[in-house]
Amino acid sequence: MTTSATATASTASTAALTAGTSDRTAQDRIDDPSSHRVLTGDRPTGPLHLGHYFGTLQNRVRLQDQGVEMFVLVADYQVITDRDIADRLAEHTENLVLDYLAAGLDPERATIFAHSAVPALNQLLLPFLSLVSVAELSRNPTVKDEIAHSSQAAVNGLMFTYPVHQAADILFCKADLVPVGQDQLPHLEVARTIARRFNERYPHADGSAVFPRPRALLSDAPMLLGTDGGKMSKSRGNAVALGADEDATARTIRGAKTDADRRISYDPVGRPEVSGLVLLAALCQDRDPEAIAEEVGDGGAAALKRTVIDSVNEYFRPLRARRAELAADRGHLRQVLREGAERANTIADATLAEVREVMGAI
Ligand code: TRP
Repeated sequence: MTTSATATASTASTAALTAGTSDRTAQDRIDDPSSHRVLTGDRPTGPLHLGHYFGTLQNRVRLQDQGVEMFVLVADYQVITDRDIADRLAEHTENLVLDYLAAGLDPERATIFAHSAVPALNQLLLPFLSLVSVAELSRNPTVKDEIAHSSQAAVNGLMFTYPVHQAADILFCKADLVPVGQDQLPHLEVARTIARRFNERYPHADGSAVFPRPRALLSDAPMLLGTDGGKMSKSRGNAVALGADEDATARTIRGAKTDADRRISYDPVGRPEVSGLVLLAALCQDRDPEAIAEEVGDGGAAALKRTVIDSVNEYFRPLRARRAELAADRGHLRQVLREGAERANTIADATLAEVREVMGAI
């Protein structure tokens, strides 16, 4: 009860933990980068796409380059929340690492690992589960939404408990900042609740707390729409993969939904599909969307799509070339994961030892 947030700062800066009570922080407010530890990750269910790139990957690389300590997680156990079998898991895992490296994450500076390879991380799930009620688990709006969209006949237990596992992902390394999208905020709240309750229930003998209270780092990057006008998604076939070749990129973009108005404008509310394409070209060209729309003018959807195709292919050419080079050496990708797991295991073992000690489980 008495352990204040400020007492938890073993890896996290006091400033970050005491700046308000908010669970989120804007991207541009990171000062003193070296005082933070960031953890984020993805499920290995398919190739990363342009939405991931502009939504989070670019940001991660920026944080890394600012000197923030980065942990990037391949959440392989989390794949089997909404499907029976983790299809082609090894391949998806390696390709995720490939996308990370191609985008600019540097395994010398960022710890890239799969959580299934870190036993002590997974063991944190047990005490953490005791800190949340079944009612709380079943109220999670993101979980509810995923259940609504799941094609499984029955909802499995991991679906309800994976947010707690995700808390273990974050807390094993005492990360204080978690770059995520809006849909992950309920999970971040679970992690914060678990950290708080754990610290209250099991303080160190000197009263200090074991875990920091992690905060979401919401990127201000706009959400890109898929080519069908819906949310861009790995599994909906409506996205350009980071590693797609130029022809496939052109095909996907040519198939994008637009509207009948020849005059191109940037109006995300009134014309979401057209505006999504304009935005994509703008992000690639690092210009204002309005300027892109103006330039295409009366050229209609066909001209707009040509602009988008050229912009995407041009912008991603160096990344894709790097990706192709890295793809030739699968052994290197596995080596990156092995080394990441080794670092993660050292940290997870220490955290688990600390957890067992404060719980009196020696
Ligand atoms: N649930 C996240 C997603 O689908 C992936 C993830 C797993 C994650 N563990 C995490 C993200 C921990 C941030 C922190 O995108």
